[in-house]
Amino acid sequence: MPSIQPLSLDHPALLRTRNFIGHAWCDGLDGQHLEVSNPATGAVFASVADSGAADAARAADAAHAAFPAWSRRTARERAQLIKRWHALILEHREDLARIISTEQGKPLQESRGEVLYGASYVEWFAEEATRISGEIVAEAVPGRKMLVLKEPVGVVAAITPWNFPLAMIARKIAPALAAGCTVVAKPAEDTPLTALALVYLAEKAGLPAGVLNIVTASRANTPAVVDAWLADGRVRKITFTGSTPVGKHLARESAGTLKKLSLELGGNAPFIVFDDADIDAAVDGLMASKFRNGGQTCVCPNRVYVQAGVHDHFVARLALRVAALQVGPATEEASQIGPMINARAVDKIARHVEDAVAKGARVVTGGERVRLDDGPHYYAPTVLTHATPQMALSCEETFGPVAAIFRFTDEEEVVRDANDTPFGLAAYFYSNDVRRIWRVAQALETGIVGVNEGAIASEAAPFGGVKESGYGREGSRHGLDDYMHTKYICQGQLG
Ligand code: SIN
Repeated sequence: MPSIQPLSLDHPALLRTRNFIGHAWCDGLDGQHLEVSNPATGAVFASVADSGAADAARAADAAHAAFPAWSRRTARERAQLIKRWHALILEHREDLARIISTEQGKPLQESRGEVLYGASYVEWFAEEATRISGEIVAEAVPGRKMLVLKEPVGVVAAITPWNFPLAMIARKIAPALAAGCTVVAKPAEDTPLTALALVYLAEKAGLPAGVLNIVTASRANTPAVVDAWLADGRVRKITFTGSTPVGKHLARESAGTLKKLSLELGGNAPFIVFDDADIDAAVDGLMASKFRNGGQTCVCPNRVYVQAGVHDHFVARLALRVAALQVGPATEEASQIGPMINARAVDKIARHVEDAVAKGARVVTGGERVRLDDGPHYYAPTVLTHATPQMALSCEETFGPVAAIFRFTDEEEVVRDANDTPFGLAAYFYSNDVRRIWRVAQALETGIVGVNEGAIASEAAPFGGVKESGYGREGSRHGLDDYMHTKYICQGQLG
């Protein structure tokens, strides 16, 4: 039986350790367990079900059986249930934030922000559910009516990452339910507890049996779960946030049943500061976008390009701010940078910094691991200058608190360098020249561009990438559209 060591919550019932399938909390069929560890120390503090293909199939059975009734409910009824779920998320926000910080390592202040961020998608899609509408096409042939309907795609499999254990699953489940789809979900192996708590609240909100199902699985068993859904023709859509190699695997393997796909994959975001920028605003924007979640987001700037005329001034101001960041345990109020997710993540950051320094980068601040009393998985917030395209950090996502500064001289050169990557999720730039703003915003090959703004994500905006950062959008009306297909009805013989 999976278990949890005491984690102090106002509502301990939020700590779930079993799968939720149909309307029952159940162990995995073969009784294996997945251990959940504290990211700072690697010490195990919980164990949940480690599911396999048979559990995935049971979840798909339940979701498939629930689909006809759920999809026929009125949009208003679905919206009311999702709103109730939203209210419960807000009611339990402090507990949810504690669970996020404990299993993911995000500082409490940020976890509270993540709960509100995730909840904003739930509220948004509850409201959007009531605005789904089709079209009546102007008569092309006398006596014929042509109508366009939007219909839910069917059963959706949601596969989510560890870096936003609440927001990423919320922004997949909420539009799916709003559209009338049913869901099977698998959260990341590092952070299953937040997702289980969220599903528990959906159950409390009164979601009917089988509409939302969740199975947890280890890294070793995840392929069995996902392959079961990939091969299952009843699963009509996969929505995934994670790495580009896994996204490509899903695209290849879902071709057998031609599923609809939404893939939010890796990024390698450029952040450009032009000579004409407001430097204080640019430093604020980089602090907000680069150091959020310790640099562990897909939209974190990975390459910071600063024009020669403001380079030294920008670096000096940035270094002061970065050196002042408080590194500490996620559950302490004062912490601003928590532990990285695991030892592999810290090793990758250290490898990137060592490689950069060996190739000529200079460390302005940070540049080393930090060992705190509660564990070894911390890395000092870092600023490097003299970065070049030959360094690993210029072509691989570092996913850590490292700002690597590249000096540039002209606009054409920096746009070319910024686009010189297979990825295209987000880009940012700072400039006060209105003509340049339009030129550069249009020239950047990404799905999202922040212009004089580092905090770009919103439930009201379409989030997603181009090139090898994937396709599909989350948030906004586009995020709902991705869970529906278009049906054309042609009625003839009308005289
Ligand atoms: C991500 O890192 O994939 C999501 C970040 C966000 O929603 O802002």
